[in-house]
Formats: sequence, structure tokens, C-alpha cells
Amino acid sequence: METVVSGIRSTGNLHLGNYFGAIRNFLKMQKENNCFFFIADYHSLTTHPKPADLHANIRQVLSEYLACGIDPEVATVYVQSDVPEVTELYLLLNMNAYVGELERTVSFKEKIRKQPDNINAGLLTYPVLMAADIIIHRANKVPVGQDQAQHLEMTRRFARRFNTMYGVEYFPEPDAYNFGRKLIKIPGLDGSGKMGKSEGNGIFLADTPGEIRKKVIRAVTDTGPATPGEKPSVPVQNLFTIMNVVSDPSTVKYFREQHSLGVIRYGDMKKQLAEDIIKVTEPVRERINQISSDSAYLARVVAEGAEKARASASRTIREVREIIGYRPF
Ligand code: TYM
Repeated sequence: METVVSGIRSTGNLHLGNYFGAIRNFLKMQKENNCFFFIADYHSLTTHPKPADLHANIRQVLSEYLACGIDPEVATVYVQSDVPEVTELYLLLNMNAYVGELERTVSFKEKIRKQPDNINAGLLTYPVLMAADIIIHRANKVPVGQDQAQHLEMTRRFARRFNTMYGVEYFPEPDAYNFGRKLIKIPGLDGSGKMGKSEGNGIFLADTPGEIRKKVIRAVTDTGPATPGEKPSVPVQNLFTIMNVVSDPSTVKYFREQHSLGVIRYGDMKKQLAEDIIKVTEPVRERINQISSDSAYLARVVAEGAEKARASASRTIREVREIIGYRPF
């Protein structure tokens, strides 16, 4: 049995990238393993949300998570800020995280570009907090998308460094995990980059079928037909990548052949893609509405989750304090 941790920032609605990059893998693992799934609401403070938005976002993301099929009866589902032990481990790990390595992190460099007026220390130490989230439960598997691979690499390094510094074999070095082995990146519909929460290029699990059809039809493709035998352009390949995860293999094969014969009609491909996306999202969307209106259920889930997560986290903190040399008088 593995210990599995996965998290998501509470900064916007869940999209197909979150679902196929992380959540779907978690769903496959939750029954057989010791699984922790949490909402990273401390992490969301790096972008300075307003107090009223903070709570609403946590609630929304929690409802969407549960609607995907995460079962709080078998997995521990919790809100990060309900487990303050994480912040103690974050502080302790910060003492062995070096500014140089943090400054070289790709996500930090991206953030500097995106929010030049708010380059706070929380952004710099974001990977340390993420490492604390994971190793607080001494996890060995972390289902994530490709964009988190570097953070996981740093988590392994911080875990190893702690073990070496204190001469212990305490923290496992956790692996980023995907059932298909390679971590995946779901591209956006705008022809470049990954699907994101705020990039305006995403399909959200809460989108209605009408919204999904509209977004997919507008997705960037080539203007003319394909030249027979030519490889798909990047925007077209992006649509194939999404198709690979939502459609039947025979559908993908059909449109691939149409493309390589140079007779593909992108309008037809997009219509099919939209319907296949709807097949995945529609049952989730229906459950989101049900769950988000059930306040008593949500309150019970987070209270039970916090209790279970704190039991695991406080055990680690107790042992870590001892290893570091904090002793009772
Ligand atoms: P976040 O909130 O950006 O994304 C949550 C999960 O969704 C994956 N993901 C994608 N996968 C494939 N294609 C995409 N276009 C795509 N977009 C997002 C992410 O890889 C991630 O697995 N730092 C994390 C949150 C976090 C965390 C953790 C995750 C905090 N602590 C501990 C795991 C373990 C983040 O910002 O993910």
C-alpha cells in the first residue's frame, strides 16, 4: 500500500487539465492506497485573493473535487489551512532550501513575469510549501501533471537533504505519478501552451454543453486542409492530444487517417471532440451543482478530513522535532 498525496490550488474552477493530469489518476488509486487529497489554500495567498473570494473559491474547488468522484469515505479530503502542522514543516524545510535553487525554479520565473508588482517571498518558497504538503504524510506517490514535475524533483531533493543532514532514513523520496507512466500536459484551445485556470484557453468541468461546443468550435486549427502525409501543426496536434484522452481510440484513428490523407474537415473533428468532452464533463457538472448546495455535507467532509490529516501530520511533526533535536526538558 502506497501513501498518495495530491493537491490543487483554490484559485479557480477545475478544468480538463486538472482532471486528466491529476484527478483521474488519483481516482484510480484511492481505494487501494492511503490517499490524501487537499485544497492548497495557503498556496493561493501568493496571488493575494480578497477574503470574500478566498472562502468561495475553496468551497467551489472542494465541491468540484468531490463531484469528480473523490470519495471522502476512503480518501482523506481536507483543506490545507485546516492542518497548520504543514506550516511548521514548511518553516523547518526552509532552513535547508537555498535561495539560488528557488530562484531557478521555472514556475517562479514565470510568476515574476506574470505579476512583477507582487514578487513575494511566498512565491519564492512555493516549492518548499509544496514539499511540506507531500512529505508531511511521508507520501511516496504524487499524481500530478507535467507542469509539477520540477516541484516534485525539488521535493525529492528536500526529503533527501533532510535525511542526509540528520543521518536518518525518515522521509521517502516521492515520485510524480501517472498511470500511463509519462506525466501529461493537456494543451489549451488557443493553439499554444498548457490549459490553465486563468489563461482563457480552458474547458471547465462546470461548463455547460453549450459553452463547451462554442469553445471547441472556436479552437485554433489550420486555415487550409492538411498536406497529405504531413505531420499535424502544433494547434492541430493539441486537439489530437485532447482527443486522445476523451475519445474512443477508433475516433482518434479515424481523424488521424483523415489528416494524413489530407482530407480532414476540422469542423467535423471539433464537433466530435466537443461531444466526447461533454461525455466526460456532464456527469461531473451535474454532481457539482448537487454537492455545492449541500453545506452540511461539505462541513462534515472538511471536519473529518482535517481530523484525519492532522493525526497523520502531527505524528510526522513530533518525529521530525525529535530528529532535529528539540527535546522536552
Ligand atoms: P494546480 O492547482 O495548478 O493544478 C492541480 C493539478 O492539475 C495539474 N494540471 C495539469 N495537468 C495536465 N495538463 C494541464 N494543462 C494541467 N494544468 C494543471 C497539475 O499538474 C496539478 O497536478 N502546486 C500545485 C498544487 C499543490 C500540490 C501540492 C500538488 C500544492 N501542493 C502537493 C500535489 C502535491 C498546483 O499549483 O497545481
